[in-house]
Amino acid sequence: MTREPDAPLDPPRQYGGFRREAPITRVSLGPGAPTAWLVTRWDDARAVLANPSTSTDLSRPGYPTRTPMTMPPGFFLFQDNPVHDLFRKVLTREFMVKRIEALREPTTRIFAGLMDELIAHGPVADLVDAIALPLPSLVISELLGVPYEDHVFFQEHSKVLIDTTVTGAQKATAQGALGDYLETLVEQRRKEPRDDLITRLGEQVDAGTFSARDAADVGAFLLFAGHETTANMIGLGVLALFEHPDQLPRLYAGKAELATAVEELLRYLTIAQTGLARVATEDFAVGDTTIRAGDGLIIMLNSANRDEAMFAGTADELDLTRSNARQHVAFGYGIHQCLGQSLARMELQVVLPEVFRRLPGLRIADGQEVIYKPHAAAYGPSFLPVTW
Ligand code: HEM
Repeated sequence: MTREPDAPLDPPRQYGGFRREAPITRVSLGPGAPTAWLVTRWDDARAVLANPSTSTDLSRPGYPTRTPMTMPPGFFLFQDNPVHDLFRKVLTREFMVKRIEALREPTTRIFAGLMDELIAHGPVADLVDAIALPLPSLVISELLGVPYEDHVFFQEHSKVLIDTTVTGAQKATAQGALGDYLETLVEQRRKEPRDDLITRLGEQVDAGTFSARDAADVGAFLLFAGHETTANMIGLGVLALFEHPDQLPRLYAGKAELATAVEELLRYLTIAQTGLARVATEDFAVGDTTIRAGDGLIIMLNSANRDEAMFAGTADELDLTRSNARQHVAFGYGIHQCLGQSLARMELQVVLPEVFRRLPGLRIADGQEVIYKPHAAAYGPSFLPVTW
């Protein structure tokens, strides 16, 4: 299903019909892939994501993919319990609101530096390249404890990983280089500990919880999970605000108002556009539908977040004052619910008000067109030409 060309910030219109008439329906994923249940309503999405009889293991028969594979343990989103919990428990502390708050100041500093460069460069500039992409990867370097002098290396390689114009071989090279780099860093921190996430992963290696390679994979996975996602939300958030300039004052109305505005943007824009994939490990029921062990499920977060039953009367509108915006499922739900959500929220709370405060005349450059990523798992702009 494709988006309407005149509504690039809205999910494909067909989902409204599915929610009303066939909220859990069988769909084909094309040749070579099993069929799967498409879940489009908010309450059903939460019920499936919270159901312990579902798996995220890409190698399980019936998993809705054309390319079944086994993922390394450190990519714990794709692990079931007990492996998933082993990693998640180690990391939960690292992403608690208090720890993330400590990153607000460095994030503000990194952002201010990128804005200075953007302004010095002058218009026309690509906001994706100048701000949206570098900021999250620099913040993750800070969180992991990547030394400042390696930030450029880390940034360049992580950019290749999510670049749709490079070859598979280039991606594999970048992935290998980052993996090796992180493994070396884990080993260094085991010898010379510091106050950072890599050191704490190294302590788990010493304790025999997992291997140094697993620890490096966790670092790479955090980068993978938190880089392009946040970048997309920054780009789309700016575009949504271009379309609703009347709502901009909400970003400056106070801390709570800003937090609500960010939740609403997360709901309205729901970047996980291809849905979350699961496979049933046992029979279970969702409403009147029986799901059999081995059935694949695709949970459409973008549809669930536009469900009128939950966001009554105005689900398709952006309303930065929406009181129940935080009920969205843009970060998923259940045991795999986004680990980095407080980090993502904090980054958006720093960037969105500041970008318009520093450049009040910010707008799409005349005669230029925004390019979107219609097929990527995480939706967003790949090119956002701006002037001010
Ligand atoms: C606005 C930005 C973000 C969005 C919309 C987002 C969305 C999501 C979603 C929907 C899931 C659930 C996947 C599933 O259940 O299949 C998820 C999981 C995850 N996210 Fe995020 N994410 C964002 C930013 C981040 C950041 C900044 C980080 C960390 C640096 C991060 C780390 C993770 C991890 C580690 C998981 C897997 C959790 C688990 O399996 O226990 N995410 N994210």
